[in-house]
Amino acid sequence: MQELTLVIPTTEHKEDAWAFRQEFIDNGEPKIYGSGGLIKAADYESWLTKVINQQTTAEPGKVTSTTYFAVADGRIVGTVQVRHELNEFLLRAGGNIGYSVRPSERRKGYAARMLALALQKCKELGMKKALVTCRKDNIASARTIQKCGGVLENEVVVDNKIIQRYWIKI
Ligand SMILES: CC(C)(COP(=O)(O)OP(=O)(O)OC[C@H]1O[C@@H](n2cnc3c(N)ncnc32)[C@H](O)[C@@H]1OP(=O)(O)O)[C@@H](O)C(=O)NCCC(=O)NCCS
Repeated sequence: MQELTLVIPTTEHKEDAWAFRQEFIDNGEPKIYGSGGLIKAADYESWLTKVINQQTTAEPGKVTSTTYFAVADGRIVGTVQVRHELNEFLLRAGGNIGYSVRPSERRKGYAARMLALALQKCKELGMKKALVTCRKDNIASARTIQKCGGVLENEVVVDNKIIQRYWIKI
């Protein structure tokens, strides 16, 4: 099995990060979950500055967070964001952890491994449990959360979509 690590983005990732972003665009996905808005970024440098700042300074209405690249064999296979605490929105629907796997790297088991690594980061932050949520119709994400020990608390409706809220003990 390929080694998988979570790394803090640096300028070195520029080319691969932009190719990673393009794959989501080419796949018709409007959002890259757990990426701190990479798809909306005007350029890599401004995105990098933003996500590094988010580690220590919360933007209005947000909490501090750490955004990671999941890297296997020197290639970015996913993004994961750990939100350091829960505000009202995150407690209701967003959760502590968001993630995406690059379209060409899906169905290889990366998501569950990324979530497990993110839970380790939560532990290092002193968290005892993490809230992880997904749309009910996102079978792959629900399976990923369940594989990492997620216990379904309830389902809520947000913007006409059913969101499942799972807690994972760390
Ligand atoms: C959800 C996502 C992260 C899963 O990533 P992945 O690396 O392909 O997932 P894995 O290979 O680890 O598979 C996890 C489980 O889901 C299943 N699965 C994966 N893709 C599936 C699909 N399209 N349909 C049904 N099941 C699927 C796998 O079989 C596996 O279950 P199993 O272990 O019981 O066999 C990925 O599809 C993705 O990035 N989607 C877009 C962004 C997103 O939805 N992020 C989560 C927001 S909550």
